[in-house]
Amino acid sequence: MTVRHFLSLTDCTPAELNSLIKRASELKKLHKQGMIYEPLKNRVLAMIFEKASTRTRVSFEAGMIQLGGQSIFLSPRDTQLGRGEPIEDSARVLSSMCDAIMIRTFAHQTLETFAEYSAVPVINGLSDDLHPCQLLADMQTFLEHRGSIQGKTVVWIGDGNNMCNTFVQAATQFDFQLRVACPQGYEPDARFVEAAGDRVTIVRDPREAVAGAHMVNTDVWASMGQEDEADARMARFRPYQVSPALLDHAADDVLFMHCLPAHRGEEVSHDLLDDPRSVVFDQAENRLHAQKALLEFLLVE
Ligand code: CP
Ligand code: NVA
Repeated sequence: MTVRHFLSLTDCTPAELNSLIKRASELKKLHKQGMIYEPLKNRVLAMIFEKASTRTRVSFEAGMIQLGGQSIFLSPRDTQLGRGEPIEDSARVLSSMCDAIMIRTFAHQTLETFAEYSAVPVINGLSDDLHPCQLLADMQTFLEHRGSIQGKTVVWIGDGNNMCNTFVQAATQFDFQLRVACPQGYEPDARFVEAAGDRVTIVRDPREAVAGAHMVNTDVWASMGQEDEADARMARFRPYQVSPALLDHAADDVLFMHCLPAHRGEEVSHDLLDDPRSVVFDQAENRLHAQKALLEFLLVE
């Protein structure tokens, strides 16, 4: 039997992704009604975190408990991975004991190598290239507030980082138009942009980008691992701050999203997260429900 991994949105078909986010909303409803649903009883998720996390850790951990299973939090400080045990060996060992493995890491290749040697599903909990679990929650959030995103105009403002790359892949998988407004030299990865073809446009002016948009997204200007570049990036990205005034140029029913954590006064103005068009806290909550749907998809026959 081939093992299904979730390293990027392209590991699922568009039909699978759409049914995953619908299922996420169903599981959310059941959970809020107090229903007990434990298809993963006695199943174990190992979670390797090489970078910090609040939402990803808590949503996977809470999700496994709610589905009847357990999770194990592993940091390089406490495991032999941190002392140089090869990824290949770690993958064989952990996958002989656990039912799935979530990894948050730096190089995306680490995930690819781990998956190659793992006997159980591997889930990308964020790499330098991609953050597909976040996009499941984002797409679920749009669906719940506005219905299908197919054919809509989505905008990314700021750094062409791991989140932006994932939106580029999402444009194809969920069939929407994506406009990216970023400074020169901070574009999303050319490999993903080329694969997306004419679904993705890159512009420099945030006002031009948001005109008529149905969804506007941004993220931090310096991602985890880029701490040394933070000061230089701050100056370069200043014109790319998202504010309520910028959203006024978008469609009347625009939604604003940010994967969080956010830096008020930097990529978002101090008042933006409290604007009625912002759904960032629904988005964060949906990490729980979307990943429960993902775990069910990968682990329940
Ligand atoms: N959005 C997100 O992945 O948050 P954490 O870094 O807190 O997990
Ligand atoms: N781009 C950010 C996302 C954090 C959830 C980072 O990689 O740090």
